[in-house]
Amino acid sequence: MKSLFGTLADGTEVHSWSLANGGTRMKVLSYGGIVQSLEIPDGLGQLANVSLGFDTIEDYVAKSPYFGALIGRFGNRIGEGRFTLDGEAYDVNSNDAVNSLHGGAKGFDKKVWDIEPFTKGSDVGLYLYCTSADGEMGYPGTLKVKVTYTLTKHGDWRIDYEATTDKTTVVNLTSHVYWNLAGEGSGTIENHELKIAASRYTPVDSGLIPTGEPAPVAGTPFDFRRTKVIGENLREAHQQLLYAKGIDHNWVLDKGISPKPEWIATLKDPSSGRTLRMATTEPGLQFYSGNFLDGTLVGPSGRAYRQGDALCLETQHFPDSPNRPSFPSTVLRPGQTYRSTTIHSFSR
Ligand code: GLA
Repeated sequence: MKSLFGTLADGTEVHSWSLANGGTRMKVLSYGGIVQSLEIPDGLGQLANVSLGFDTIEDYVAKSPYFGALIGRFGNRIGEGRFTLDGEAYDVNSNDAVNSLHGGAKGFDKKVWDIEPFTKGSDVGLYLYCTSADGEMGYPGTLKVKVTYTLTKHGDWRIDYEATTDKTTVVNLTSHVYWNLAGEGSGTIENHELKIAASRYTPVDSGLIPTGEPAPVAGTPFDFRRTKVIGENLREAHQQLLYAKGIDHNWVLDKGISPKPEWIATLKDPSSGRTLRMATTEPGLQFYSGNFLDGTLVGPSGRAYRQGDALCLETQHFPDSPNRPSFPSTVLRPGQTYRSTTIHSFSR
């Protein structure tokens, strides 16, 4: 169940935890809470690892574009790495030109998490803990984080996030799995079908920061209200697609924030039949079409990853929320508990 995966330059050991339930098998690293491998069956029971990753800790440390990782303190971008909270100005680490991306240069994807396994009824899972010190990457407050990965008897993967702080701060946690339901290393996801329950998205500027209010998806390449093949509109010369080299946008989910996880998206690989259904409590979904994969990274299959060889579906609050009073708030105050849940259900 637990084995040594590798050792960091400072001597810290990184472990790999194996879980299996209901036909799904997954390997999780203590480094970044990374889902290193996630195997699900097709209709014939054939397992494939449907998430991009690496075989060695050295590759994760040196060059991972967040493969399978937990993202914090703040998923996606904060414009110019700046915001004001209760009248106080904060300058957080900028690691994406002038903007801050995924919590800054040393985000939660690069932390070593404490992991504890559990079994609860027919569920198995892992508790992942980390503490982010007051001021880390520029964020106020000591943030204590607990993430629960559960594999249910149906083979569903559920993520529950919890966090508390001792000073008012902002939080936006997510998971950065790169999906390819035909199997990592098997080529493009442009033939995957996707449906997203969102009538609006947040258009961005050339730095991928939202420009203002959400816009309707109707009549744009961003309309996934009906099941659509991902490649269908990907090469349209639409300014938003040109800025992002494809899709790298936040969908404003029609259901909004919900107390219980509600269905928001379905992804299907027609060749294998493998299907992922996602439900979340979050109000937003970042759909990223693997635009920065450029053929220089090689996965466990021994095959290189090229542009569009995977996609990410990151449930979250909207990018740059700390600077957008009209977006759902990402503020967390002492005494409150941040909670977020996302469920991935697999079928064939
Ligand atoms: C998110 C961002 C993208 C990119 C990927 C990882 O989806 O929005 O711009 O950073 O993560 O490369």
